[in-house]
Amino acid sequence: MTHDIRSQTVVIGCIVRISMSTSVQQSIRESLQRGFGSVLELPWSDIDPIVRKSQNPEHGDFQANGAMGLGKQNGLNPKVLAQKVVDETDFGNLVESAEVAGPGFINIRLTDEAVVSMLHMMDTCDLGIKPDKDMHPVAIDLCGVNVAKQLHVGHLRATIIGDTLARLYERFGRKVYRENHLGDWGLPIAMVLERLLSENINLDTLSLDDLNIAYKEAQLVAKDDVRGIRAANNLLAGPHRLAELEEQNGGALDAQSAAKKVLNSLQQGDKELLNNWQKLIDCTMRSVFTSLELLNVKIGPENNRGESFYRDKLGGIVEEFFDKGFAEEDDGAIVVRFEKRNRPMLIRKSDGGFLYATTDLAAIKFRTQELGADRVVYVVDARQRDHFKDLFDAASLMGWDKTTDGCPVELVHIPFGSVLGEDKKPLKTRSGSNVTLDSLLQEAVDRGTTEVMSRSKNPKSPTHNMSKEELETIGRQIGIGAIKYADLSNDLVRDYVFDMERMVAFDGNTGPYIQYACARITSLIKKGGVVDDDAIIILHEPKERELALQLLQYNNVLQDTVKHLEPHRLCTWLFELTETFNSFYQSCPVLKVECETVRASRLKLSELTRRVVVDGLDILGIESPNQM
Ligand code: ARG
Repeated sequence: MTHDIRSQTVVIGCIVRISMSTSVQQSIRESLQRGFGSVLELPWSDIDPIVRKSQNPEHGDFQANGAMGLGKQNGLNPKVLAQKVVDETDFGNLVESAEVAGPGFINIRLTDEAVVSMLHMMDTCDLGIKPDKDMHPVAIDLCGVNVAKQLHVGHLRATIIGDTLARLYERFGRKVYRENHLGDWGLPIAMVLERLLSENINLDTLSLDDLNIAYKEAQLVAKDDVRGIRAANNLLAGPHRLAELEEQNGGALDAQSAAKKVLNSLQQGDKELLNNWQKLIDCTMRSVFTSLELLNVKIGPENNRGESFYRDKLGGIVEEFFDKGFAEEDDGAIVVRFEKRNRPMLIRKSDGGFLYATTDLAAIKFRTQELGADRVVYVVDARQRDHFKDLFDAASLMGWDKTTDGCPVELVHIPFGSVLGEDKKPLKTRSGSNVTLDSLLQEAVDRGTTEVMSRSKNPKSPTHNMSKEELETIGRQIGIGAIKYADLSNDLVRDYVFDMERMVAFDGNTGPYIQYACARITSLIKKGGVVDDDAIIILHEPKERELALQLLQYNNVLQDTVKHLEPHRLCTWLFELTETFNSFYQSCPVLKVECETVRASRLKLSELTRRVVVDGLDILGIESPNQM
């Protein structure tokens, strides 16, 4: 079999009239926008031609469905409109055919030359993903652990999702501040500290479990402050705030006043007390960082900017609201009211204490006005929805919805859902206690390791002669990848059932499946020897073309994912890509094909696929083992 590659050789690097910072899909969309614009005599940039990847490759590569809606709106027969647009649109040399079908669909087929040329353009170290033009940093509020409390599965989500969104922005060249807004200040911590000190417990040898117990005991001693809660109820302050008050104001009076004394001394800057307080933080964070390291997230001590960081700014914040006339007194407390709703935001209690909300106001000001972020993304569970609504509205009252250089700030709350057990109730251990993150991660790693070890017994397995340590590393990568993928591949706002069995499976839409597919491509390439950098991609078989088109969507998928902040879009696409690769590989032999140029082309396609999968998994914070 011989292949004529001359016609393609000519075009590489010179034909396609699109830059790789826009995707193919965007480029077609833009051409059609102009086409519709000129036919309808409307400003083209307002028009959505609704371009989608075609469901059936026989109909073309893309389909534009905009003529139906636009025809109706403008009193034109959609079919006639579609035809006029096709006649009018200049696609440059990107498109081989554009045909009207059905009630007014436009089916578009790209030229092979364009596909090949764009693939070659994508074959650079950045895989065609160009830096965002917006140079403002992004702040991502993630993790959000609380001192003296064990990490639980909720924090797992806040950490995994937050880190992935951070990686996504970084992939587009944005500077990201990962802000771990630790609960490290206020009455609950003062209560624990007071309790530990009064019992003469050595803070240097404390474990997080000890701390956790002390925390619970301190809570028990301090019962609900009925007056505080009633006041909050009267103010219609919302469930999260009530829960906070129950916790903060909690107190049989003695315990409360002792803790308040401690808090007071902390606020006054008592050196010894601050030193002891720091020990509680260190003890908590030592344990937290062990879990975070296992999780392969880029969060370390440098990301700690907890509530205590803002402690000296709170009084000033309340004053600023007062000065601008946005705060008022209510029964001794200070509240911010909103036109749109009854629920006020409590920013100072009648005893002069500040609240979670006050700290968050200081933080939002810091992030937008001092760090200069024009996007602040809060990855915090759905129960705090009201809190963030109020926070964002209060920030915009104060003008903190613009950076100091006048750029509008987008404030986003990702209200992620809960992790449920098989009984569809919040995940608990068999004995009914909360599942700790540590135990969960360990189980995933154990399962991953068991799976790899059993596979390695097969003499044909690429892992057959590996050492125990190597197998354990792979097992960890699989177990952690499984948990992360399961978390990210769901719509974030939905609750999901934690099913370890399914997560670690090597088939279906799972992390290990994609890792495994990637490892197989890696070993294929290794067997094939070097990938020729100068090899030219040839698309003669439909499956080659299908894979090529799928690869070309990468840019578009990443842009969609970052636009909607929905990692499941990337997950689904990566799954499709590995499936497309598998079906390409089944019908197009790579190493066994006779023709050298075809072999080189297919190896190059495989290598590009491998690089894209590795890159995509990396954005999801998932490692790609070379062998599995
Ligand atoms: N520590 C808080 C909690 O466990 C989460 C912090 C979220 N971030 C924020 N800026 N409020 O509920």
